[in-house]
Amino acid sequence: MEFPVKTANPVKTETPCLVIPVFKDGDLLPAAAKIDDASECLIQQLIERGDFNAKLGNVQMIPFAPGLPADRLLLVGLGERAKCQEGAFCKAVDAAFAHLAQMSIEAAAVTLTDVPVPDRDAGWKAHKIAESALRASYRFTQFKSEPAPAPSLAEVTLLISEGDDTDAASIGARHGRAVGDGINLARTLGNLPGNVCTPRYLAAEAERLASESAGALTTEILDEEALEALGAHSLLSVGRGSEEPSRLIVMRYDGADDTDESPHVLVGKGITFDTGGISLKPGAGMDEMKFDMCGAAGVFGTVASVLAIKPKINLVAIVASAENMPDGRATKPGDIIQTLKGLSVEVLNTDAEGRLVLCDALTYAERFTPASVVDIATLTGAAIIALGHHATGLLSNDDDLALDLLDAGETAWDRAWHLPLWDEYQEQLDSNFADLANIGGRPAGTITAGCFLSRFATQYPWAHLDIAGTAWNSGSQKGATGRPVGLLTRYLLDREEELRETTIEGE
Ligand code: BES
Ligand code: MN
Ligand code: ZN
Repeated sequence: MEFPVKTANPVKTETPCLVIPVFKDGDLLPAAAKIDDASECLIQQLIERGDFNAKLGNVQMIPFAPGLPADRLLLVGLGERAKCQEGAFCKAVDAAFAHLAQMSIEAAAVTLTDVPVPDRDAGWKAHKIAESALRASYRFTQFKSEPAPAPSLAEVTLLISEGDDTDAASIGARHGRAVGDGINLARTLGNLPGNVCTPRYLAAEAERLASESAGALTTEILDEEALEALGAHSLLSVGRGSEEPSRLIVMRYDGADDTDESPHVLVGKGITFDTGGISLKPGAGMDEMKFDMCGAAGVFGTVASVLAIKPKINLVAIVASAENMPDGRATKPGDIIQTLKGLSVEVLNTDAEGRLVLCDALTYAERFTPASVVDIATLTGAAIIALGHHATGLLSNDDDLALDLLDAGETAWDRAWHLPLWDEYQEQLDSNFADLANIGGRPAGTITAGCFLSRFATQYPWAHLDIAGTAWNSGSQKGATGRPVGLLTRYLLDREEELRETTIEGE
């Protein structure tokens, strides 16, 4: 999809559909006012007659536009002016594109950057617009024999009002497009069924990204033999009951001016199906455990958006991938395994497998002497109990890193919430037989999972994102969301900015 940015007058803009945001109260926004002047007060009349209710998220198609070169108008309700912040803006933009993606038009022009959002500039708005357009146009139809036609929308022109920063909007649109594409890649990987998307499939995906990157991305894939030789017995213990071999997938992007610059490391949980293993899960809804690789999907999506944006940072992306199945050879409750770090773990529940693959990946990350390590995992059902489906859980051994991630989440409108990682919780992992147990009981399940990981993340600033509640939707809208690609990409772009600032200071 293309996102040209123009400062053209909306009254003179020829387009199949002109998108106009409208507040419930107060004056029309600049573009809407111009349209109104040129169309015998069409918009005001529609509002006054009650034919359009500008409630937040309402949209109304006007199939003609008298006196205007646009073929149609799409009015978008913004709700109350005083409540127009990031959440309201994103909701209105999403509603507009959900509608546009249903229409059989190939192009639209939007005046959405007119909407005042406190502390957010035209670049931020352009980013959200492009990202939203791509998210709305996404369909996952590859297994349908007669798929509905794909949305035809291919070009969204951003009409910027005088005085707004066109350069910032162009950069925002470019980033939003990269993030939207990255989100959609993560959604596809998440949506693929477990019989297609296996650890080897994810490894091939890394190789595909590398081969299409013109040398910007390199990969290293560790198979079971290599993992055995390395001593990653914890990761291997999870896949022991599966016919599908496990993989540790490493991708490297060196974009910093100084190739010796410490990389930021992302680590994704890639359980391509989680039956629970011998601690078998109940049957209802088990299909959704194909989404247990959404941490890995988020890492792939972020790598893809980084490859599109090419920030001047170094990045290492690691995916720890296995299938968790019950079998004669599977790990059993009570088994004791030896992690790559050397700590022994008593596996009291084979369904707490995510931390077992992640801990070895976190130890593997030490070799890169990282500037930061962020792991992303659909780790605990308890994260859904604590935070529902709106916030990603965030735990960290470094408050500065936690704040950077929270801030990135706010900007990307892909928010996380900080939970405590206090020492008091650590004793829940005490084991009578090994260095630690892999479960900490029912209280604070998300935190004790974070505690487990923290025992391995000792050599660098580290944070853990529990995306169990945010990575996919259930019910009739079942499907992967592509979160937290927005948060992670923003986090990495902020690190580039930080690096740029310190280089200037140092000069
Ligand atoms: N992948 C699940 C977590 C999960 C469950 C995410 C449901 C989203 C929805 C994870 O591997 C798991 O099974 N965790 C257990 C941990 C428990 C055994 C300590 C859980 O949350 O029940
Ligand atoms: Mn599990
Ligand atoms: Zn799992």
